[in-house]
Amino acid sequence: MVEIYSDKVMEHFKNPRNMGSLADYDAVGKVGNPACGDVMHIYIKVKDDVITDIGFKTMGCAAAIATSSMTTELAKGKSLDDAMKLTRGDVADALDGLPPEKMHCSNLAVDGLHKAVENYRKGVKE
Ligand code: FES
Repeated sequence: MVEIYSDKVMEHFKNPRNMGSLADYDAVGKVGNPACGDVMHIYIKVKDDVITDIGFKTMGCAAAIATSSMTTELAKGKSLDDAMKLTRGDVADALDGLPPEKMHCSNLAVDGLHKAVENYRKGVKE
């Protein structure tokens, strides 16, 4: 089999961080990609404008799982403003890159995070 993913992607795919919804969350961002059918939910817990806890539920490909995992790691402990500044490039770089046809997977994870922050700021849970 041709290995298209970096070791880091495979490691996050096999041992995803922060997997699962949070029992006590303040907001969730739900996003999906109609082209591939993948769906991601990113849950955040916020205190004093800082993401104190985060979880994800992702139904998707290996890259979707790995980018969800990495996005939650990057966002945990960040202020909402800093979380909004995270880009898909940051997520892909932190994973030592993604194959070009899988870049949209990292977009989905960051979009989910941003949507969760936007919902939180609007005062809606989802
Ligand atoms: Fe669509 Fe990975 S193939 S998110």
